Amino acid sequence: MSAVVLVGAQWGDEGKGKITDFLAEKANCVVRYQGGSNAGHTVEVSQEKFMLHLIPSGILYPETLCVIGNGVVVDMGKLIEEIDGLQKRGIDTSNLRISLRSPVVMPYHKRIDELEDRHTGIGTTKRGIGPAYADKINRIGFRMGDILTGGKCFRERFKAQIEYKNRIMEEIYQEDGFDYQQMLEEIFGQAEQLKKYLADTSYLVYTAIKEGKKVLFEGAQGTLLDIDHGTYPYVTSSHPIAGGACVGTGIGPTNISKVLGVAKAYTTRVGEGPFPTELNDFQGEILRDKGQEYGTTTGRPRRCGWLDTVILRYAVRINGLTDLAITKLDVLDSFPTIKICVAYRYKGQLLTEFPNNITILDDCEPEYIELPGWQEDITAASSMEDLPVNARAYVAKIEELTGVKAAIIAVGPKRKQTIVNSLLFT
Ligand code: IMP
Repeated sequence: MSAVVLVGAQWGDEGKGKITDFLAEKANCVVRYQGGSNAGHTVEVSQEKFMLHLIPSGILYPETLCVIGNGVVVDMGKLIEEIDGLQKRGIDTSNLRISLRSPVVMPYHKRIDELEDRHTGIGTTKRGIGPAYADKINRIGFRMGDILTGGKCFRERFKAQIEYKNRIMEEIYQEDGFDYQQMLEEIFGQAEQLKKYLADTSYLVYTAIKEGKKVLFEGAQGTLLDIDHGTYPYVTSSHPIAGGACVGTGIGPTNISKVLGVAKAYTTRVGEGPFPTELNDFQGEILRDKGQEYGTTTGRPRRCGWLDTVILRYAVRINGLTDLAITKLDVLDSFPTIKICVAYRYKGQLLTEFPNNITILDDCEPEYIELPGWQEDITAASSMEDLPVNARAYVAKIEELTGVKAAIIAVGPKRKQTIVNSLLFT
């Protein structure tokens, strides 16, 4: 059995796209289990850059089965755009499958997301993610299968929902509402285009695992953006953590063999909320410039700071990480010294565990250790032996502080700029 869950160990944007792409080459099946078009993975293949939002990174390999699981909220318009964009560049999308149980992101979800965010100040991606998940939990949402089936019952529920949303738009936000007929035609048209991809994906993934195929569960966002275990309320509305892979695909936990946590060699976050190791100085600028830290989905500059191993240890615990992938190590190339946060100082007390509450986190000062930098270009390294001794020491320190071995180390965005210490798929 070989099923690996890949999760972001920080606040998202850990460079998961590159690692997923690397593992997808070996996988028979790649599965997205949460999030939606708020995610943005950049994959570089022989001078070409691909930006993926909803489609699993495995799509770049023609033989790989790519699954959008039931835990993903699907913006049909965006998905069609993404499929068309890939096809225009000669990528075969016939191996894509979408769960019949996936909730649909409706145009009203996106509008409400925008309006609500003005009040909450979460800094969402405005992709309708929160409102779509809220409707799912409230049992007033619509799944891909509902739209495909259509029929009287669906139309009645949909009409009632539009009326309800229009009251919110008009009475709370003093904005125009939505036209039922127009939206109905739009979503029926989109569902018709996606029909051929719809399937009982839980069965497909289960069968793949039972047949001994290599299955990769591709997490979007990251541990600290998890709705339950992240820095609430500055989180997304899904479960990026490893447990989310089971719920979001309909696969039991005993089918999972490994959990790979992807962590950048430093820390970034987008949107609002506390960030203890944030650097608001020239060092943060260096990380942003060299690491090209701008959102794939929104283009927003990311906040940057030193590596925080309190966060990484938390990610080890919450996800049950068996392995680490450390990305963008080369971004640290120019620093004469590099800091690692090992604990927090909170009102004179030393905290070694990640706090449960952002009010506490907001008042936490990082306790650092300092390591010498390597100050040389490592982008051509292809094994640990190629790395300067200080870069190796940096990786070893992360392993020591987290208790987890680095299976993969990325030293640049290209596929070949990857050091592999252990094979994830057996
Ligand atoms: P939402 O997922 O659009 O509701 O946004 C909620 C929070 O999650 C915001 O702080 C976003 O910036 C953050 N977020 C959502 N998706 C990503 C991602 O792919 N990378 C990093 N942050 C994200």
